[in-house]
Amino acid sequence: MAETKIKQDKICIVGSGLIGKSFAMLFASSGYKVHLYDIQASQVTDALSNIRTQLVDLKEMGLLRGTLTVDQQHSCINGATDLSVAIKGAWFVLECVPERLDLKTSVYRSIDPLLEPSAILGSSASSLVPSLLSKDLKNRNRFIVVHPTNPPFYAPLVELIPAPWTDPDVLPKTKSLCTEIGQAPVVLNKEIDGFVLNRIQYAIIGECWNIVKAGVMSPEDVDKVMSEGLGRRYAFMGPFETAYLNADGWVSYQERYQGMIERVASSFDPFPKIEGPTLQTIHDAFAQQIPLAQLDARRKWRDARLARLSKLKKDMDQ
Ligand SMILES: NC(=O)c1ccc[n+]([C@@H]2O[C@H](COP(=O)([O-])OP(=O)(O)OC[C@H]3O[C@@H](n4cnc5c(N)ncnc54)[C@H](O)[C@@H]3O)[C@@H](O)[C@H]2O)c1
Repeated sequence: MAETKIKQDKICIVGSGLIGKSFAMLFASSGYKVHLYDIQASQVTDALSNIRTQLVDLKEMGLLRGTLTVDQQHSCINGATDLSVAIKGAWFVLECVPERLDLKTSVYRSIDPLLEPSAILGSSASSLVPSLLSKDLKNRNRFIVVHPTNPPFYAPLVELIPAPWTDPDVLPKTKSLCTEIGQAPVVLNKEIDGFVLNRIQYAIIGECWNIVKAGVMSPEDVDKVMSEGLGRRYAFMGPFETAYLNADGWVSYQERYQGMIERVASSFDPFPKIEGPTLQTIHDAFAQQIPLAQLDARRKWRDARLARLSKLKKDMDQ
């Protein structure tokens, strides 16, 4: 493995919650100097302590990225309580505050006058399109959405969505940064509400919901269809390659299955309202297995499995 060098290049993260601290760890693993700012000082302190715990866990699992030690990676991350100090000299600023248009745009109003002229302003937004987020900014030509997947350390996909007015150098620079830190960037050539990951996710949720509502299957068994069936393949390839392999390529898939697919798809119900008795049925099914008080423990259970899967994929690809 090539040696990771500690760099002088500075990256600023605004918002030190779940996603902000994950990105801080990812950038630090490549030796970037990260300044982690939050409106609440206690959030930064908590984030720094949680990051150390996570780095130690990653080391124990053999999943620490790069060649820097836990201490070196941790010391690349500085907590910040002054936004202007955090942004000064940063070539990349990543906003990670909650998904509210009013909040994000008010944060940009504070960041905009502080940005270095060639700096990139990224947003970790999950669904808000970049033209809506950046339209009133002086530096709107430096704006790009960098939508991660949770948990970013184990699910490396990042959706990159430039605004219509984003300068041509912003996308390749952001893509190369994401690749450098070990993430898997994909590009949206034009913006669309919800981007791609969430649109696909919501299509799946809609059909799963309708199946439970129609009494066809229990919520637990619907989840098993994904975890023991479709999801097993999707961890390694998407629906296009899956179909390609299920027949002898896509033309053969179309010849064999087009009629069946169109018949089944024409019986789909419209996207459901997420409310009413089905909501309670689905909630209760999972609350029995995972009481709300045990969510953190179950998240650790999930992350441990995703970590093993990351290792398996890494080992098999070597
Ligand atoms: N959590 C996920 O699964 C996930 C996945 C992908 C993308 N995202 C997106 O990432 C963004 C952040 O989500 P999160 O889950 O990290 O949220 P979070 O609630 O965990 O953290 C948000 C942080 O922003 C801080 N904050 C609030 N107002 C601020 C301000 N004015 N200035 C500076 N900091 C401020 C809060 O104190 C908090 O620490 C959202 O846009 C979200 O949609 C989240």
